Amino acid sequence: MTLVAGIDSSTQSCKVVIRDAESGALVRQGSAKHPDGTEVSPQAWWDALLAAIEQAGGLDDVAAASVGGQQHGMVALDADGSVIRDALLWNDIRSADAAEALIAERGHVVEGSDTANALINGAAAWAEATGSVPVASLTVTKLRWLADAEPQNAQRVAAVALPHDWLTWKLSGSKALEDLATDRSEVSGTGYWDTARSRYRYDLLAQALRVTEDAARAIVLPRVLGPHEAAGAGDPSRGWGGMVLGPGAGDNAAASLGINMGTGDVSISIGTSGVVAAVSPKPIQDPTGLINGFASATGEHLPLAVTLNGSRVLDGTARMLGVDHDQFAQLALSANPGANGLTMIPYLEGERTPNLPQATGSFVGMSLTSMNPADVARAAVEGLLCGLADGLEAQTRLGVPVNSIQLIGGAARSPAVQQIAPAVFGREILVPEPGEYVADGAARQAAWVLSGAEQPPSWNVSPLQTFTAEPTLGLREIYSSRRHLYAKRG
Ligand code: XUL
Repeated sequence: MTLVAGIDSSTQSCKVVIRDAESGALVRQGSAKHPDGTEVSPQAWWDALLAAIEQAGGLDDVAAASVGGQQHGMVALDADGSVIRDALLWNDIRSADAAEALIAERGHVVEGSDTANALINGAAAWAEATGSVPVASLTVTKLRWLADAEPQNAQRVAAVALPHDWLTWKLSGSKALEDLATDRSEVSGTGYWDTARSRYRYDLLAQALRVTEDAARAIVLPRVLGPHEAAGAGDPSRGWGGMVLGPGAGDNAAASLGINMGTGDVSISIGTSGVVAAVSPKPIQDPTGLINGFASATGEHLPLAVTLNGSRVLDGTARMLGVDHDQFAQLALSANPGANGLTMIPYLEGERTPNLPQATGSFVGMSLTSMNPADVARAAVEGLLCGLADGLEAQTRLGVPVNSIQLIGGAARSPAVQQIAPAVFGREILVPEPGEYVADGAARQAAWVLSGAEQPPSWNVSPLQTFTAEPTLGLREIYSSRRHLYAKRG
């Protein structure tokens, strides 16, 4: 049996699955936790990966491995290949002002822009140049923050990697910056890669770091590999010299490979982030910034709407109510649709879509009828789902095909989310069996690289359970009007 490994280095933990390359059958697995926080030492990811590999029985008999990872995190390396400072993660919002400054600066170079419309013109220029309008999550804004807040660190930057490509490099044992490699899905989330035309934009990197374009070109950026191109081989000193390393992918792209998404398929993933991902044959550029025009792991495009507030909305509300997740789901399902007029705006950690980094959450519409645990639980589920429904609507407005919706991620296991989602979305929802879809997608990519075939191997996909419900009329309109009233930037 030929074995392949798939790795998911996510915000909260690292998971390793080892599967049969031919059938996809699960052979062994392991996991280890990551530290909390939005600023993390990459060494902690490496330690967790080694622990997860050991728990999964090692890689000595594995023929190929790929890493899927949380997107966007800034891993700045010096000329010796050492990490300069802790990585700023996708959910770290300290670069929100940097994002706005980068947009305005580009707006000012658009002819006819004055201060009033610089942000609008700048957003359009960024969307055209890279596929995305900068928000605090994107790497380019973190580099601007570094240049302004820690200039001595910024001056030492010799290479910039992201979590997954840095881990792939560590697995190879190389110390040479030139060996850094990444894939289209991941590089499309940096903010200095032109997704439609597949090339680095050193002028944008230069803008972010406040250096000349020549100086930016001297910075090593990872080589961008095709969907099934090998990044290299494993570290011979660890006995992994015979193991092929795949290009890896961002976690959302890896998950879409894990559940075998094609054009017209949409996944709604509720993990630490909430993500509406859709496969599009053509690049997407959204000047409103609601949709990020990222690439997929299969050579197509994977436009995403991403919220900062995913499963932790449910965790926080359950904690506030003093109940566990089962009791929370029962409470939410015992309430009437619409929670007797109670709305939760779930911007608990600021928000990215819409871009309100300093916003806080609110309950709106409290009355003596709705001030009870069941309506509070229902409002939390509905608030979370309404934000994602806005993301889905933004995708369809851009012409992204939507034929079927799969609900994945930790919160997809909640019966309340499964049953309330079709009522909020007004359409049927499919739920696969719980699984490690990011790690599975990475394993499938590793098998693909090994096979040399044009298409990824067709592994059995998990059976889908279908959920339907009467649409909750008027809910989205109420949510939308209240979200505008109560969400503020700072
Ligand atoms: C995507 C994003 C998040 C992280 C979470 O743009 O920021 O989904 O990838 O791991």
